[in-house]
Amino acid sequence: MSIVRTEADPAVADVTFPQDFLWGVSTAAFQIEGSTTVDGRGPSIWDAFCARPGKVANGDTGDPAADHYRRMADDVRLMSELGVRAYRFSIAWPRIRPGGGAVNPAGLDFYERLTDELLAADIVPWPTLYHWDLPQELEERGGWANRDTAHRFADYTEAVLGRLGDRVGWWTTFNEPWCTAFAGYASGRHAPGRTEPEAAVAAVHHLLLAHGLGTRVVRDLAPGAGAGITLNLFPVNVADPDDPADVEMGRRIDGLQNRVFLDPVLRGHYPDDVLVDLAPYGLGELVQPGDLDTIGARLDFLGINYYRDHYVSAKPDEKSGPPSEWVGAESASFPKRGLPQTDSGWDINPGELTTLLLRLHEEYPRLPLYITENGAAFPDQLTERGTVEDGDRVAFIDGHLRAAHEAVRQGVDLRGYFHWSLLDNFEWAEGYAKRFGLVHVDYRTQRRTPKLSASWYSRVMADNGLRG
Ligand code: NOJ
Repeated sequence: MSIVRTEADPAVADVTFPQDFLWGVSTAAFQIEGSTTVDGRGPSIWDAFCARPGKVANGDTGDPAADHYRRMADDVRLMSELGVRAYRFSIAWPRIRPGGGAVNPAGLDFYERLTDELLAADIVPWPTLYHWDLPQELEERGGWANRDTAHRFADYTEAVLGRLGDRVGWWTTFNEPWCTAFAGYASGRHAPGRTEPEAAVAAVHHLLLAHGLGTRVVRDLAPGAGAGITLNLFPVNVADPDDPADVEMGRRIDGLQNRVFLDPVLRGHYPDDVLVDLAPYGLGELVQPGDLDTIGARLDFLGINYYRDHYVSAKPDEKSGPPSEWVGAESASFPKRGLPQTDSGWDINPGELTTLLLRLHEEYPRLPLYITENGAAFPDQLTERGTVEDGDRVAFIDGHLRAAHEAVRQGVDLRGYFHWSLLDNFEWAEGYAKRFGLVHVDYRTQRRTPKLSASWYSRVMADNGLRG
């Protein structure tokens, strides 16, 4: 395995991460498992969403995905060969309590087997309890807009911790609650596909409450384990810093994307300005006595998913899009800057990762940070020689690791990096067309082919850094 240099990768200095830095890879249940109807799994909101014509590109569904449910042991072996030290995966609620009610032991068996395989391979299991696959039955009772769903999440957490609490040392309650609330209930771009701004705001509060209730269950059933949450955080830059309207829009977007989750979880209260911005949607009225104490309970780490920054303007753009996910900032626009982009059309801007980490370190001090996702889709091609030469992905990771290291150099307590993703997978509304894996998946044969980036990242993990 050799270090790859591409023209897009001019950096040459060595960087070494702190001792015990945790190197990992990430996936999520619905995106890789397939086998959506076996062993007592019930339907999730994503199964229902995929069945609605036009909602997911090419009519793709959660089957077969990367067939990981059946190939799990091989996939753990693959990680072991790559030298992965930690594996971030998610547990599918509809496998454990299919309708939100009775426990399905066969679902727990799968995650127990996965955990045991990981431990036997000396890979740290890093499970997330909720990565977007709510049991459909709970959606039919109101989904995340219904406060009761938070209590059902605590029941589900209890079932999982009852089985795995003795051997998993790190628990994450939620992955990117922003997406669940705003893409799921405001723009309808994600399951359950609702376009109800008030429901989206209710979802924010109930997701946060569920996080707090779930954390309590983790503390009770696995007192020695670390507990945290993963947020998708974006540095916010404004198009014209001299235009007060742009600056004001930047403040709103920062509140709605970042602070509406960070402050309740890490400071025990909603930011005053966000309470004002979301007052028309009833945020304040949702909060019951004791909620914020539950939500703000002590955490051991914050997981950060970083892909890009937001570049914001108050000047409306001409395209009339779908219903806005920016509840309280509906007229925001996101102009193009001419930066290079990934296959998802996302700007590549690694330097902003340094900015984000420094900000978190300053504003929410004394909290260990982990990058729980970072990665990119590129139009990968399997060559005739059976290789995937994804130098663009190598350059992407290299740039982001250098940016993360710069934050560490300036004193940020960053403890790990998980690459998204181990495998090509189901990219939600984009279906299988967008490939984020270090490992290529041929969905016809389910053959796995480690890309160039996989051998390169393997070297990075082994070296604990980048060798110029
Ligand atoms: C965030 C999500 O957690 C993950 O599910 C998704 O596939 C990646 N980002 C890429 O969009």
